[in-house]
Amino acid sequence: MTDTTTSAPAKTASHLDLTPQESEAGLDLDQLKQLVGLVEYDESTDRFPVTGWDAIVFVVGNATQAAQYYQSTWGMELVGYSGPETGNRDHKAFVLKSGSIRFVLKGAVSPDSPLIAHHAAHGDGVVDISLEVPDVDRCIAQAKAAGARVVHEPETLSDEHGTVRVAAIATYGETIHSLVQRTIDGQTYAGPYLPGYVARTSTFTKRDGAPKRLFQALDHIVGNVELGKMDEWVTFYNKVMGFVNMAEFIGDDIATDYSALMSKVVANGNHRVKFPLNEPAIAKKRSQIDEYLDFYRGPGAQHLALATNDILRSVDELRKEGVEFLDTPDAYYDDPEMRERIGQVRVPIEELKARKILVDRDEDGYLLQIFTKPLGDRPTVFFEIIERHGSLGFGKGNFKALFESIEREQDKRGNL
Ligand SMILES: [Fe+2]
Repeated sequence: MTDTTTSAPAKTASHLDLTPQESEAGLDLDQLKQLVGLVEYDESTDRFPVTGWDAIVFVVGNATQAAQYYQSTWGMELVGYSGPETGNRDHKAFVLKSGSIRFVLKGAVSPDSPLIAHHAAHGDGVVDISLEVPDVDRCIAQAKAAGARVVHEPETLSDEHGTVRVAAIATYGETIHSLVQRTIDGQTYAGPYLPGYVARTSTFTKRDGAPKRLFQALDHIVGNVELGKMDEWVTFYNKVMGFVNMAEFIGDDIATDYSALMSKVVANGNHRVKFPLNEPAIAKKRSQIDEYLDFYRGPGAQHLALATNDILRSVDELRKEGVEFLDTPDAYYDDPEMRERIGQVRVPIEELKARKILVDRDEDGYLLQIFTKPLGDRPTVFFEIIERHGSLGFGKGNFKALFESIEREQDKRGNL
């Protein structure tokens, strides 16, 4: 798999340095290259340089309980908090980490919180895909010049842990990208998340034998947009943020009898941040993207792909905790054409079949992946677990198998 940026490697820029989050997580560059397909690129010509993910911010109906669930079931670690006890009378926010990923869960405390209207419209979901950038003002100047909507002008925030500079731009639906600059004049912010948040550790104790963590890094976040809007958002990421198009393209060649989608993928220069963008395609019945758009009441983040170096272990541990994954028919694994296409992977296919883990291969290598059922009450946001072995794709070859499985679930809900 190739893209337009990999041909001119430039080692001068610092964009491949590990972020503080990655260093803290004990990751090294080679691991990250394997985990999420990091590449080198020339940052000097980038008008909107992005270092990587900063945080994925969810609005949920009950952040207190969700924080417990993501710790106990998903092995995340509580590191920070904001709420009434810290002077935030509007909402509670719990900061959780796993590997280099930072999740923030927000739930309204005040009956007048604006989070309540957001939650009433969208249910549990991702409100902010926050990105770490080396220069907020440069990014906002570029965003304005390219016609993006700035939802928060650049602002400097400080507390006893230091200073950050933040801003935000709008993306699809009511989703935003906060832009966070954590190093100012050589000083890196040392607090647990942002000024105003306090360090918080969990009262939750992992059971004996539980792994330290179940995933190490965030690979990609998929956005679902309305029919006919995919190319508009691809252009937005190209023009506003300088993201490049990755090769994977899914057209209406990938469709079942019931539903279809179109998908294109954009990525920042170093490929830490990858956004596949889906739109529904015309089909005999309502597609899974239509179902999402109806229940999220508009475009939004569909799934977050969590990268692991041992998907078998992660899936086994998550199943023990009661996480439900999409089913894959045995026929998928027994199909001789599929076996031929996949060839040898690191474990016998029977091991994948026993866990319903999907496998896809392209010219660069292969990947293993599995998808959870929706995380909340509405059929909207879910997780993918992914283990890459050279492949820089997203599982295109699995779409048909996946669709058929998703549709069986959709049918059970009476939404097909
Ligand atoms: Fe994915």
